[in-house]
Amino acid sequence: MAPLEKSRLSDQIAQKIAGQLQRGLFSTGSKLPSVRQYGAQLGVNVGTVSRAYWKLENEGYIQCKPQSGFYVSGSVPRDRDSGSRARNRKDLSQIEEFKPDVQWLGHFLTSMTDPSNLFLSCGTPGAEVLDFSSIQKSLKAGMQTLGSKGLHYNYPAGYAPLKAQIARQYFNAGVDVHMDQVVLCFGCVEGGNTVLRVLTNPGDMVAVESPLFPGWAMLLRKHGLRLVEIPSHPRTGMDLDRLKAALNKYPIKTCLAMPNYSQAMGALSSDADKKRLVDLLAEHGANLIENDIYGDLHFGSVRPKPAKSFDRAGNVYLISSFSKTLAPGLRVGWIIPGKDPDRFRTEQTISNISTSAFVEAGISDFIEKGHYARHVRKVRKFCQSNLQLFNEAAARYFPEGTRLTKPAGGFMSWATFPKKVDALRIHNAALREKILILPGNAFTMGKQYPHSLSFGFGHSYTDSYDNALRRVGNMAKAQIAGA
Ligand SMILES: Cc1ncc(COP(=O)(O)O)c(C=O)c1O
Repeated sequence: MAPLEKSRLSDQIAQKIAGQLQRGLFSTGSKLPSVRQYGAQLGVNVGTVSRAYWKLENEGYIQCKPQSGFYVSGSVPRDRDSGSRARNRKDLSQIEEFKPDVQWLGHFLTSMTDPSNLFLSCGTPGAEVLDFSSIQKSLKAGMQTLGSKGLHYNYPAGYAPLKAQIARQYFNAGVDVHMDQVVLCFGCVEGGNTVLRVLTNPGDMVAVESPLFPGWAMLLRKHGLRLVEIPSHPRTGMDLDRLKAALNKYPIKTCLAMPNYSQAMGALSSDADKKRLVDLLAEHGANLIENDIYGDLHFGSVRPKPAKSFDRAGNVYLISSFSKTLAPGLRVGWIIPGKDPDRFRTEQTISNISTSAFVEAGISDFIEKGHYARHVRKVRKFCQSNLQLFNEAAARYFPEGTRLTKPAGGFMSWATFPKKVDALRIHNAALREKILILPGNAFTMGKQYPHSLSFGFGHSYTDSYDNALRRVGNMAKAQIAGA
């Protein structure tokens, strides 16, 4: 602890403890350290700490129980209601410019994790569609299978049976991959982080599909990379002519894309375009980082091929995870590298030593017992019917001239309102009504999507969701009417 001024020492100690109590560090009824212990820890005398505790007792924060000690009372004003942290937070509904940077992320996480906000752009599956009970049983079975071996590091880069299952699923989707090439990691973003560390250097230019998931934009910038945004067609994905022009003009050696159900618009590239994308990059000596996180959530009967299935030069690095299909909290993802899988295994080991064998064994059990295939079928149906309800509501509530994307999988879609509508104003007004919705410009480094909003349909279509869409539609209509 920093030296405290003698004159106000006990007041300062009391203030420090009061701050911690307001933030909920100690729950009601829990015991504070004894006067002697705390004094020794701070290097101050017992009398000073006693004075601080008496002050807190007078102010109602703590209670003294004779012969026992000091306890947190039930009347501590918690930060959530009145704390300074909440007051210092910038209100996301006042934001004047939306760009994916660290400051914005802080505001966004605050709004997103506030349970009183309804998040319309949510990119995770709703709790109601997750199969908690089967996952729980499989995690238990995974622990039993591993026994005490699961308490050790999980070398090398993942639980072998799960790697084999992932390799089999990709084989069925047209990717010829050996299980040893699969590198397990803590989610798709962590996989991307590893691939970027291996393939890029600060200052490099990276071509990215635009609109782009804000998390990726932040990650790329953290790596010191310069982003060249390549527009994505709402139905057919990345504009390959624009990519070709950019490759001819700039020294781009890496490209990040989601050919299967792009993050923001839900676009699906054709097989011909996937092949062209991979070949075009190979011709320019460039690599593709393919995010295939939505690939399993197809509404049609056939799982779309990943671009990786057209990789002849070893220039496609596929990253994905179970976050959209099974549960984001499991934190299991994978990398299927182009060249040199050993390099990626080593990189993962340097960063994390190992992943968690217990969780991986649990997921492996889930797949083995057929739950994964059944569950994914359920999620696909669920999302498809939510999308239909969303589209019907958009037709009812959104102003004439609004364009909606038509995703054939995944659970993200994108609405572009007529030009008079300022999506940021809608975002700000909606948040004041506890509706959180991401405006288009959160998905670009420039200001390319001022009239667009992002929607997620991985959650049940409830009355509150319907009501929120109606409110958003009314806000857009009011702007058009000049209000
Ligand atoms: C496009 C995209 N990629 C990756 C992620 C995160 O994946 P993971 O949880 O596996 O790290 C998200 C999460 O919303 C996402 O939307």
